[in-house]
Amino acid sequence: MTDLTAIKQAVTNAWQQFHQAPGGANADYIPFLANIPSDLAAVAVVTAQGDIISSGDADYRFAIESISKVCTLALALEDIGPQAVQDQIGADPTGLPFNSVMALELHNDKPLSPLVNAGAIATVSAVTAKSADERWQRILTMQRRLGSENIALSDELNQSEQTTNFHNRGISWLLYAAQNLYCDPMEACDVYTRQCSTLLTTKELATMGATLAGHGKNPVTGEQVLNPAHTPFILAEMTMEGLYGRSGDWAYTVGLPGKSGVGGGILAVVPGVMGIAAFSPPLDDDGNSVRGQKMVASVAAALGYNLYR
Ligand code: DON
Repeated sequence: MTDLTAIKQAVTNAWQQFHQAPGGANADYIPFLANIPSDLAAVAVVTAQGDIISSGDADYRFAIESISKVCTLALALEDIGPQAVQDQIGADPTGLPFNSVMALELHNDKPLSPLVNAGAIATVSAVTAKSADERWQRILTMQRRLGSENIALSDELNQSEQTTNFHNRGISWLLYAAQNLYCDPMEACDVYTRQCSTLLTTKELATMGATLAGHGKNPVTGEQVLNPAHTPFILAEMTMEGLYGRSGDWAYTVGLPGKSGVGGGILAVVPGVMGIAAFSPPLDDDGNSVRGQKMVASVAAALGYNLYR
């Protein structure tokens, strides 16, 4: 049983303590993100029973960015299964930045993880689809089923990303050259860029976490979205690479599967219990929200959740 009073207190305390924590800077390689007010901050919990508890700007719609990689991984697991995901994409940390080309060079052009850019583009390409539009619609639908039907593409953000995503286009061609891409490379890159360009609230992000916590059942809509046998694979991938170069530190100090995005969002999953999400734009050098990490860690610690404890 989850104690709602304790959760409310943990969420309020986390926000009060860390919503103005110093350090970090907005992502600026995507112009749209550079202009988001840096002082926004929110934290939210959604339990596996569907209770929603939040503090701060928890209804502000921010860019999902790399957290979208979790949703597309979930779809690929449904489409091609865990063995093919492991064989074709991987389940290891790269030890290098999220957009690293060197990581590909070092591993025979295998991405190693669906949660780095190369692996996420490969995952998009592995989704079953007959056209780019079908590929995109299936991915967007998965984001909505996991989180909320209100999750939608921002044309302004998508424009900002599509006109600056040259590095990801390069990664796509490298994957294609190595036969590690399963559709047209510019289709994969275009759909990947769109999946990063949707907006969601901190509450909706926590709902995604609760769906993963609840073995693939969205506790707000009641829909069984995923094969329950697949969620452990998603959580394992999040543990390995969810916060990029800080994934190990996060496992060591927080002890929960997590995933960040350069839009300032961050999600952690307490299996069987809840999703904990936070949002604030300033990022550390690895691309993780500075305040978001502190707020999520604070809630998890206050409630005594750490898988390794
Ligand atoms: O592809 C990119 O670089 C962005 N659309 C997403 C990167 C990202 O969110 C990395 N996360 N922390």
